[in-house]
Amino acid sequence: MSIDPHVTIDFFINGTPCTAYDGETVIQAARRAGVSIPHFCWHPNLSVPGNCRICMVEVESDNGDPWFDIGCNMPVTAGMRVLTESDTVKKLRRDTMQFITLNHPVDCGICNKSGECLLQDYHYEHNGRPSLSIDRKNHATKFYPLSDRIMLDNERCIMCTRCVRFTHEVSKTHALGAVHRGDHSLIRPAENADFNEDVYSDNVIDICPVGALLSRENLDHARVWYTKATPSVCPGCARGCSIDVWHRKPEWALKALDPSLNARIERVTPRENAEVNGPWICNKGRDLARIWERPRATMALVGGTPAALDEAVERASQLMAEAARGVVLVSSWGSNEELASLHEVLTGRLASRFTARVKPDHVPQPGELLEDDILIMADKNPNRRAALALFPALEGEVAAAVADADLVLVWGEGVTDADLPAGARVVRLGSYQYETALRADVFLPISIQTERDGHYTNAQGVVTAFSSCFAPKGDVVHAEGLFQALAGNRKALHRVLAGAVS
Ligand code: SF4
Ligand code: SF4
Ligand code: FES
Repeated sequence: MSIDPHVTIDFFINGTPCTAYDGETVIQAARRAGVSIPHFCWHPNLSVPGNCRICMVEVESDNGDPWFDIGCNMPVTAGMRVLTESDTVKKLRRDTMQFITLNHPVDCGICNKSGECLLQDYHYEHNGRPSLSIDRKNHATKFYPLSDRIMLDNERCIMCTRCVRFTHEVSKTHALGAVHRGDHSLIRPAENADFNEDVYSDNVIDICPVGALLSRENLDHARVWYTKATPSVCPGCARGCSIDVWHRKPEWALKALDPSLNARIERVTPRENAEVNGPWICNKGRDLARIWERPRATMALVGGTPAALDEAVERASQLMAEAARGVVLVSSWGSNEELASLHEVLTGRLASRFTARVKPDHVPQPGELLEDDILIMADKNPNRRAALALFPALEGEVAAAVADADLVLVWGEGVTDADLPAGARVVRLGSYQYETALRADVFLPISIQTERDGHYTNAQGVVTAFSSCFAPKGDVVHAEGLFQALAGNRKALHRVLAGAVS
């Protein structure tokens, strides 16, 4: 049933007057009113199967004869008086929890979901009693590989079917289904589909209300309460999905074990953003550690040899001062703030001698899905729109754009040595270890997204912030200040050097 926010209905929740939109169910209206009704199978972005029954509410009637029904499938009607905390509702919830946990293992101590598991939370909130059953639990497959990325623990599954509905309604791969009946029911890959082909598959890990669906990549990495989320933006394509980057809390830093684990990405999950990605991201977003945790360049180089950062910046600045026909190849992975800083120097101190072109830092990789009608976009760069608002696009080959240059400043990735004119000076600003750094006149290591705050503007023009979660290492500096220093601003140079971690 569709919801019409222009037509409102007055009703009551626990005696308090509330307003629902026409077409809203009790659980939806209650949520907007700040009243929580427990739910397993219901998910705000999926259809309503009404199979778990934990959302049962009471509706008072004028004849004193109340009725009970599931709040996730009950439309609000005018004057309706809903009770979510009556004694009978509480008893029904307790009984439902007993039923749902009938065959559930007491696995919390070893379960990856522990700490963010609805079943665990609801057990304490709505049940709290030991199992009343005198029968042995029905054991099911403990670990069943649903795909190369996802492991299923059938004993923990409560058959809410969220995962199945996700593949039918969101990713549309129809890759999962349920086989058998009753307490023998199992989630299984569909016979005519391959869950490996579902590029949104890992969303089922988040929406599974229990610890039945597990990321094989992140299995047993860290307890969730040892980690925290930093808001960020996926740079994997021009959609710029909002994400949370999870990493170890400083107060739980490992000392005896490998300390590098303290600055590792434990996992990436969607951060709900109605304007951009809703509650979903694609699997490339989950795998950002593979992009961000590539071997980093942390040392400044002059002529391919390690140099002190101040010497390297001075040398680059000198080369830029000498250039008559400089070209800057602008990164489409730079933040709005970095782009603005570059624009300031290119329209100021360097205006008469430098031009700029926006290049793609990343292009689609072999086997990568180019685009779809869900989230994935063909442009594999997060901030090309903002860059193009300030600088012209690189049209055609890089080599043609820089053919006449006597100095090329390459910011970011995607430009080989073969693209650059043989006689030109080359200054590179990069974050990862490439051999091209050894052949540049000057190479300066710059921070990546997880080491600085900033904003990206996605292909639709939505601006989203990202925050730093790790400190830069070695001589790594932020490009935003570096551009000013390279243009000869001495104050900026001192600020850059003061901010460098050595
Ligand atoms: S695996 Fe999780 S999401 Fe899928 S049906 Fe079972 S409990 Fe629900
Ligand atoms: S759709 Fe694009 S921005 Fe969103 S998670 Fe996937 S790669 Fe990242
Ligand atoms: S949440 Fe209503 S029946 Fe499952």
